[in-house]
Amino acid sequence: MKTDSTTIRKRYDRLAPYFDGLEAVMEGLLFRSWRKQCWAKAKGGHILEVGVGTGKNFPYYPADARVTAIDFSPGMLKQAERNQQRKNISVALEQMDVQGLYYADNSFDTVIATFVFCSVPQPLKGLKELYRVCKPGGQVILLEHVLSANPLLAWLMERLNPLVVWLVGANINRTTVKHVQSCPFQWVRVDPASNDIIKLIVAKK
Ligand SMILES: C[S@@+](CC[C@H](N)C(=O)[O-])C[C@H]1O[C@@H](n2cnc3c(N)ncnc32)[C@H](O)[C@@H]1O
Repeated sequence: MKTDSTTIRKRYDRLAPYFDGLEAVMEGLLFRSWRKQCWAKAKGGHILEVGVGTGKNFPYYPADARVTAIDFSPGMLKQAERNQQRKNISVALEQMDVQGLYYADNSFDTVIATFVFCSVPQPLKGLKELYRVCKPGGQVILLEHVLSANPLLAWLMERLNPLVVWLVGANINRTTVKHVQSCPFQWVRVDPASNDIIKLIVAKK
């Protein structure tokens, strides 16, 4: 099965019109409260949101921040633009691949992504880009689902992974905490509210 950038981008383009509907139940039951906790950690200044999707994080943008948001899927960005206009959100939306950001080194005070590194084809390459564009003393904040530490559940997730990638372009077997720890941050903390599968990660450059 193909998992290159073009294939995954096209998958999100195809899903874009239905994305909010497909996630509506999980959003209400689970994701909304995680998003609140995640964005509560974002400081003002210039924020980069990576993998903005349809703009589900718009309600949580700090009022005192300037936000730039990117996504590599034109289909998802189109939905984000609609939501931006409907909700009158101040954000600069750009089409870009996190694996090769156009921004200069040390550009942003906070770099943030929610449920994105499950689908980035080369996650370590993308995370190194987040590190590069974050200012020294700034922070990278990630809300991600990862492979379970429970061996039985992890075995099942590994088996199901190809099907989930094929369906929605997301991997359920990523080890994102380890990947972040392998970047040269001053420190990496996993918020204690995190559970076996959903991790709220803060890293300081
Ligand atoms: C599961 S969706 C999450 C969207 C949004 N962050 C949210 O919390 O609802 C993953 C998003 O990441 C984007 N994405 C995946 N790989 C990317 C890449 N390499 N560069 C930029 N965006 C990417 C997808 O297009 C999609 O919009």
